[in-house]
Amino acid sequence: MIIAIDGPAASGKGTLGKRLADHFGFAHLDTGLLYRAVARVLLDRDVALTDRDAAARVAQELDVTHLDDERLRGAQMGEAASVISAYQPVRDALLAFQRQFAGQPPGAVLDGRDIGTVVCPHADVKLFITASAEERARRRHRELLSRGETTDYEIILNDIRRRDERDMTRSNAPLKAADDALTLDTTHLDADQAFQAALELVTRKQT
Ligand code: CDP
Ligand code: CDP
Repeated sequence: MIIAIDGPAASGKGTLGKRLADHFGFAHLDTGLLYRAVARVLLDRDVALTDRDAAARVAQELDVTHLDDERLRGAQMGEAASVISAYQPVRDALLAFQRQFAGQPPGAVLDGRDIGTVVCPHADVKLFITASAEERARRRHRELLSRGETTDYEIILNDIRRRDERDMTRSNAPLKAADDALTLDTTHLDADQAFQAALELVTRKQT
C-alpha cells in the first residue's frame, strides 16, 4: 500500500506522513530531504546552485543513508533545494530510489511535491495538504525558533510565497494536486486534528 502526500511548504506533510506511517506500520520518506541533501553538498563544496551539471552529478551520487542530518532542515536549505529541484536531471537521478522505497512491504508513505503526480501515480491514496500561507509561515516561524533560528515572520512569509510560486510554475514536476487526490485544508487544524481528518480520508478510500 502506498500513501502519497503532496502540498506546499510547511503545510504539515512531514508531520502527517510520519504519523500515518506509524499508525499503519509503514515506512516514511520525506522526499524534500533528498533535494535538501543535494543542495547541501553543493553549498558545502562552494558550487553555484545554477550549475545544473554539478547538481545532477551530486544527485546521481547522493548517499541516501544520511537524510537525518539536522542541518538539512534549515530555511536556507529549503530555498536552495527549491532551486536545484527544478532541474530535470536532478529529479531523474532521485526517482529510482523513491520508487524503490515506495514498493517496500507492507506499505510506505512518501511526502513531497510530485508524489501523486510523478513518483507514485498509482498510489492507493493521494492526499494534497494545504493551509493558508500566513498559517504556514506561523508554523515555520515557531519551528525555526525552536531550532534556534531567529528569522522574522514577514521574511518567512515572503520566502514561503516565493518558494511556492517557483515550485508551482516550474515546467518539471510542478507542485499540484493529482486529479484523484483528496485535498485537506489544515489552516484551522492542529497536527492531531489533521491526522484524524487524514485517517478518516484514508479509511474511507480503503473501504
Ligand atoms: O519542508 P518544506 O515543505 O518546506 O520543504 P521540503 O519538502 O523539504 O522541500 C524543499 C524543496 O524541495 C521544495 O521547495 C521543492 O522545490 C523541492 N521538492 C521537490 O521538488 N519535490 C519533492 N518531491 C520534494 C521537494
Ligand atoms: O513537511 P512540511 O514542510 O509540509 O511541514 P511539517 O514540517 O510537517 O510541519 C511544519 C510545522 O507545522 C511543524 O512544526 C508541525 O508541528 C506544525 N503543524 C503541522 O504539522 N500540522 C498542523 N496541522 C499544524 C502545525
